[in-house]
Amino acid sequence: MPNVQPLHVDRLRALPKAEVHAHLEGCFEPGVLEQWARQARVPMPRPRERLLEFAGLADFLHFLDWACGLASTRERLAELSYGYSKRLADGGVGYADVIVNPTHWPAWHGRLADMIDAFDAGLTAAEQDGLPPVSLCVSLLRTQSSDAAAELADTLVALRHPRVVALSIDGNEAAAGRTGPRFAEAFRRAGAAGLRRTVHAGESSGPEGVRDAIELLGADRIDHGVRAIEDPELVALLVDRRIPLGVCPTSNLALGVYASIEEHPIDRLRRAGAVVSINTDDPVLLGASLVGEYALCSKVFGWSEDDLRALARNSIDASFASADVKERLSLALARW
Ligand code: ADE
Ligand code: ZN
Repeated sequence: MPNVQPLHVDRLRALPKAEVHAHLEGCFEPGVLEQWARQARVPMPRPRERLLEFAGLADFLHFLDWACGLASTRERLAELSYGYSKRLADGGVGYADVIVNPTHWPAWHGRLADMIDAFDAGLTAAEQDGLPPVSLCVSLLRTQSSDAAAELADTLVALRHPRVVALSIDGNEAAAGRTGPRFAEAFRRAGAAGLRRTVHAGESSGPEGVRDAIELLGADRIDHGVRAIEDPELVALLVDRRIPLGVCPTSNLALGVYASIEEHPIDRLRRAGAVVSINTDDPVLLGASLVGEYALCSKVFGWSEDDLRALARNSIDASFASADVKERLSLALARW
């Protein structure tokens, strides 16, 4: 282990950086959920003291359906997206791409444009208040059909909402099996229309899921991707093509992908030359802050200031931010 002094959190907060892998579904405050459930007379899935204890990814995704089911008004959606931008500002994050998956939000089924407008209202208000800009990646769920996937891609292309930068896919690959071929056409249509493509893989799937994300879905970025470490040829491909990985260490521990941070491959991937960034995934529900993730990893893996600068650089480069925002963050990073 290199002999590097752990950095003070203030120094990490000041590090100019982006977040490229987080879900709005993971940003609900538990107290707010409890209050909404009481008002709507909806039973809690478990007692409040164990509300955020998840027995793995399948259980967690189930919880998201429950939580998002309580968010039935435009105001609640706008508050959620505004709150995420506020959270970014508190952690010194200058920009984010955030994922939202319409399948989790029953009150908004069949009303995608209204749903995006509601999130956009919160994000526009945040920017007007001087908080960081956030773009939306609208996500498919791994268990959807190819027809439903193509329909979402076509709807996004027709909408051309300026807030939406990407088609995404998340959910449970372990439950869905190998689904790359099923989603290839939807991702092809999105890419052809100028949307970016970001794909959850190598979390609930092994290296084969990451390979499908690259070869079948044309991923511009992989969300997680950590299990690529099990296949050295795949790591070489990621390095060679400079396909960024949006890694979320605390999420991987909370959802049981790795048993301890010491076993987590983020540092091995970074050392192998992969374009790795650090992210929170579902920050509130899984108890992760971006500054906390940088602090944890820099302590455990002995990262230097140069290493941290390179990771922040990756986060900015991997983001789908505009050229102006990237330029501004890059200048700030050079001064850090
Ligand atoms: N949706 C929200 N968080 C997720 C995760 N960690 N993996 C897959 N889908 C998700
Ligand atoms: Zn995720």
